[in-house]
Amino acid sequence: MTKFESKIKTIEWIDNYSKLVDQTKFPHKYEYVKITTGDEMFDAIKTMIVRGAPAIGIAGAHGIVLYAQELQNQNLSKQEFVNELLKKSDYIESARPTAVNLHWAVEKQKSIIKNPNLDIEQIVEQLRINGKKLELEDIEINKRIGDYGAMVVPKGATILTHCNAGALATVGYGTALGVVRSAFANDPTIQVFADETRPRQQGARITTLELTMDGIPTTLITDGMCSYFMKKGMIDMVVVGADRIASNGDAANKIGTYTVAIAAKYHNIPFYVAAPLSTIDTNIKSGDEIIIEERSHDEVTTINGERICAEGVNIINPGFDVTPNELITGIITEVGILKPDYKTSIAKAFENK
Ligand code: MRU
Repeated sequence: MTKFESKIKTIEWIDNYSKLVDQTKFPHKYEYVKITTGDEMFDAIKTMIVRGAPAIGIAGAHGIVLYAQELQNQNLSKQEFVNELLKKSDYIESARPTAVNLHWAVEKQKSIIKNPNLDIEQIVEQLRINGKKLELEDIEINKRIGDYGAMVVPKGATILTHCNAGALATVGYGTALGVVRSAFANDPTIQVFADETRPRQQGARITTLELTMDGIPTTLITDGMCSYFMKKGMIDMVVVGADRIASNGDAANKIGTYTVAIAAKYHNIPFYVAAPLSTIDTNIKSGDEIIIEERSHDEVTTINGERICAEGVNIINPGFDVTPNELITGIITEVGILKPDYKTSIAKAFENK
């Protein structure tokens, strides 16, 4: 197991509330918020106080515990409690549509809610235990992803990443940046190029913050620069995270990832996706079925609250794109690196789970 320890803990259940790092304040402030109600958690996911597929999965699991605690005090019959809590669970799942981890975590909590052998108190207690368990497992899973991924990082490599798939997109350690952390533990000569990632700038605001906090050399570039540096031979591999991966290996990730994958293919640079099995949606055959979140137009028309374009211009703002499986060298998971053909390797990974 990896020797690298990151100080970052993005989300943590404490007694009867959830503690989150507020990601809207980066890079100026590193502050925590205490989330004490289900509605507060819904808003935290929606407004991206917490973001990144694995982190919002755990936030969803915690949010259901918070709703359960509230409903427990309302003198409901068991049936009323269950019906209400299932509705609240669907509501929390609706906060963000693309990342399948939210659906995955909500389903795990729903199976406890639906257990006919538990009374209300037992349901609340089991939800709490499970929320904490999923939280702690996330870090261990990321460390395994990191260690598998480190095996394919060449000595002294420069690794390009897009968006933030780090400790701050998970409970801790990270998926794509977990690979970086595990590789760096063995080889301190590796470095990272981070795409800025317009429009929300997760690369600039978050990836550079967490990597520099951990002392990992990082260079920030704007999104349009990646092929320039690839042509110059300055990028050895690409590792990104994912928000949903279809059964055939098509992978949805932050908008702009597809462009990076095409550039990597053209320049013969390995392109890896690092993600836990909970990001793989075996219910869909291909990326065509992935719902892409359309985000606020203000994200495109403004920077730091200041308008950067003409009034009256048309705006489209998809939050994610889908990289076709043929551009992906491997999918780094907690059970190993899956290789093409992904239909077969993904099915096998789930068989052996
Ligand atoms: O919109 P966000 O910030 O929640 O999107 C997250 C991403 O797309 C990340 O790139 C990440 O890879 C997925 S989470 C490890």
